[in-house]
Amino acid sequence: MKPSHTFEAALQRKLEERKEQGLYRSLVCSNGLIDFASNDYLGFARQSILGKGSSNLQGATGSRLISGHSPEAERAEKKIASFHRTQAALIFNSGYMANIGLCSAIAGKNDTFVCDELLHASLIDGIRLSFAKRLKFKHNAVADLEQKLKKAKGNKFVVVESLYSMDGDEAPLKEMAEVCEQHKAYLIVDEAHATGVWGEQGEGLVCQLRLEEKVFAAIYTFGKALGLHGAAITGSETLRNYLINFARPFIYATALPPHTYSQIEAAYHRLPSANRERLVELIAYFSQATQACHRFSFLKSRSQIQGVVVPGNKQAKALADHLFQKGIYAKAILSPTVPAGQERIRICLHNFNTQSEIDFLLREIKNFKE
Ligand SMILES: Cc1ncc(COP(=O)(O)O)c(C=O)c1O
Repeated sequence: MKPSHTFEAALQRKLEERKEQGLYRSLVCSNGLIDFASNDYLGFARQSILGKGSSNLQGATGSRLISGHSPEAERAEKKIASFHRTQAALIFNSGYMANIGLCSAIAGKNDTFVCDELLHASLIDGIRLSFAKRLKFKHNAVADLEQKLKKAKGNKFVVVESLYSMDGDEAPLKEMAEVCEQHKAYLIVDEAHATGVWGEQGEGLVCQLRLEEKVFAAIYTFGKALGLHGAAITGSETLRNYLINFARPFIYATALPPHTYSQIEAAYHRLPSANRERLVELIAYFSQATQACHRFSFLKSRSQIQGVVVPGNKQAKALADHLFQKGIYAKAILSPTVPAGQERIRICLHNFNTQSEIDFLLREIKNFKE
């Protein structure tokens, strides 16, 4: 659910308090001014370390609130907001920092996070830092989510991933958004693995399902399909201002270098023409081919994240080693990262893989001797 007027008003009130105290934080570009603010003590950020000379700073020289804000950052955030069809976006240095910043800033000890049991560690850490209560619901189970929402107190935040990194399955976001609306809960969606891959132009699952108006905040990371580094939180302009003022990983860390913001913006411009069709073809090919591979069971995934379940840590490691010896790199995911008995080899498909590589992988899985 979008923030009710009262919640949006509560965030706004906190911002007004800051203004009254003379402590309101806002972003200022300092380009062209005499620098007595940055941390670029040796001037290294002004010189290309590769000696080529560049008009842009190499490093940010400070946090976004000191000297690290730039026209490049502003342009990238405007592009991201319009791409994901939201009012505003704020870039963090990583998805991990975005998640701990968001969760720890928006909730307090009287509030409740209601979370999918398979949530990424970055979200769990953020929730812990907030001092709010945490209730877990069974993975992707809307009925259990509803039960937990009935028990939740204070402001309620439902936190899910759109595409789960270990199982490759997607959250039933439409149903979840409806339940959130009924229970006046705010929906937060981590789109890390859907960014660039899902949606007509790679906008993610929220946009694909036209749920932009029903989501309080979404997190898009750049370290996966965009091949870069960093992440953005999207939502209302009030949420952006609130995070600038209260999200500690944003306030207290050196910003990304200006050229990274330009790279992020360029990657967003490139996304609509990325070859997602090829990835979809390979996913279909992989799913078809695994039906003939009876050696182990495969995850039921429709996404680029696939996996073969190899019960037992020892056996999962042995299969990963066997593949490695054959020149194939796929990671073993062991318990307790996944439940005991569900240990697996995680198989990430990319649009640059080939059908013969998939055939080779499946042949080697079949050939593996325990
Ligand atoms: C679901 C999810 N959220 C957040 C992150 C953290 O993103 P980053 O690697 O940009 O810190 C990851 C990274 O693995 C992830 O899988």
